[in-house]
Amino acid sequence: MRIETLLAQLGNGKDHTGAISYPIYPSATYRHPALGESTGFDYSRSGNPTRKVLEEAIAQLEKGKRGLAFSSGMAAIASCLSLFKPGDHLILCQDLYGGTYRLVEQVYGPLGLTATYVDTRSSQKIREAIRENTKAILVETPTNPTMHITDLKEMHQICKDHDLLMIVDNTFMSPYLQRPIEVGAHIVIHSGTKYLGGHNDVVAGLVVTATEELGEKLYFYQNAIGAVLGPFDAWLLLRGMKSLALRMEQSQASAQALAQWLQEHKEVEQVYYLGLPEHPGREVHFAQASGAGAMVSFALRKEEQVEQVLSRVQLISFAESLGGVESLITFPAKQTHGDIPEELRLLTGVTSTLLRLSVGIENVEDLIADLDQALRD
Ligand SMILES: Cc1ncc(COP(=O)(O)O)c(C=O)c1O
Repeated sequence: MRIETLLAQLGNGKDHTGAISYPIYPSATYRHPALGESTGFDYSRSGNPTRKVLEEAIAQLEKGKRGLAFSSGMAAIASCLSLFKPGDHLILCQDLYGGTYRLVEQVYGPLGLTATYVDTRSSQKIREAIRENTKAILVETPTNPTMHITDLKEMHQICKDHDLLMIVDNTFMSPYLQRPIEVGAHIVIHSGTKYLGGHNDVVAGLVVTATEELGEKLYFYQNAIGAVLGPFDAWLLLRGMKSLALRMEQSQASAQALAQWLQEHKEVEQVYYLGLPEHPGREVHFAQASGAGAMVSFALRKEEQVEQVLSRVQLISFAESLGGVESLITFPAKQTHGDIPEELRLLTGVTSTLLRLSVGIENVEDLIADLDQALRD
C-alpha cells in the first residue's frame, strides 16, 4: 500500500471491537492471567496498546523494524545518546537544532561524550573529523533553518567504512517526503510535535531503528529512563498523522509560492528554500527526498526589520515550533538556536536578520497579504 493509504488507515481494524479510531488505553497497569503469564502488557511505561499502535505505525512508515515513542523529540534524542559511553566521540552537523546541541554539550558532555560539529554538506569534512573513538554521525537534512543538505548515500558509505552508527533527524521532512533508512540510516529520529502531530497540540518524539537488535537496545533505554509518550498523546499523534500527506502537499505548495514571492521582495536579501532552482543542495536533496518541504527561511536587509515583522504579523503567529496547520514565524538566532554560540551560529548563516517560516495550510494569498503588510515601510 502507498504511504497516503497507510497514513489514512493508521490504527483502523487493530482493536477487537472494530473501532476505526484506535482507542486510548489509559490503564497504567494490567492484570496477569496467571503466574508467569502476560497479555503482552504488564505496565504502561514498558508497553501500552495505544502507544504500540503508534510505534508500529512509525516503523512501517519509515521502513524500519522497530518504532519507539517518547514524551518529546528531546527525550527521543536523549535516549539515542544513551547508546554511547564516556570517551565516545560523535560527529554532528553544524547547523543543528539548538536543543540537540545543548543536550550534547551540557548534559552528555559532562558525562564524557565529545562531539565535533561539521559542515556535513562536505563528505571530505566528515571523513576528516573521524577519530579513533568516533561512534556515530548525527545529521538533520535539510538543516534547520538554513536548509543545508547532507548526501545520505555518501554518509552511509562513510559510516560503513568506519563502522559508525548513522543517525538522521527526519523532523523537517517526515516519512512522507524522506525515508533515511532506505538509504542506509540505522536510526531515524522525529520531533513528533512537528509534521507528524501536525496541529500544534501535542509534544512527542519518535525513534525508528533499522534492525531489531538496535530496537531492543533502545527499548531498554526507553523503559529504563521512562520518558515515554502517554496514551492520550499517542492517540493525538495517530489522529494527526492520518492527514500528513494532505497537509504536507498543501503546505509545500504554499511554501513554494511564498518563497518565490519573498525572493522578489525588495526588503528581502536572501531566501532559503529547496524549491528554488538556485538552491545549491537541490540535486542531492531531490535524489533522496520527494519534495522541498514547507519550511522557508529568509534574511532581511536590515536588523531592525526583524522586530517590525515579528510585531506586525497578524495571521502568522510569532511562535516557536513548526510543522502544524497554523503558520508560524520564528527568529532562530534568539529562539531555536539561542543556545548555540554566536561564532558557530554565524558560520552556518543563522544571523540576526534571519527569520524562519513554517508554512501551514491557510490560503497562501492570505499568508502573502500578511507578510506584505508586515514588510511594508
Ligand atoms: C529538528 C528538530 N529535532 C528535534 C527537536 C526537539 O523536539 P521537541 O521539541 O519535540 O522536544 C526539534 C524541536 O524544535 C527540532 O526542530
